[in-house]
Amino acid sequence: MAEIKYHKHYLPLSRPELVERLKAALKPARFEHVLRVEQTALTLAKANHVDLEAASVAALCHDYAKQRPDEDFVRVIKANHLAPELLNYGNAIWHG
Ligand SMILES: [Fe+2]
Repeated sequence: MAEIKYHKHYLPLSRPELVERLKAALKPARFEHVLRVEQTALTLAKANHVDLEAASVAALCHDYAKQRPDEDFVRVIKANHLAPELLNYGNAIWHG
């Protein structure tokens, strides 16, 4: 599937810039996973007449925080006064 160009400014990056950031932040297997997820998301978006750029951004970013340490999530939950019940969960919930 051809790569799409970003025009709607969901984030201040082009797709190649976003992909480079992901490549730097993620382990190789995770990086390849998000690229595959993007292709599936684009196929589903086309079939369902959903915005392709939104699908691409969401798919590429869906695991961006998955490799962050638990302490980062705990700090963000507390600093932003999010529901304290969130502290009962872990990365499987937090990264989303
Ligand atoms: Fe994933």
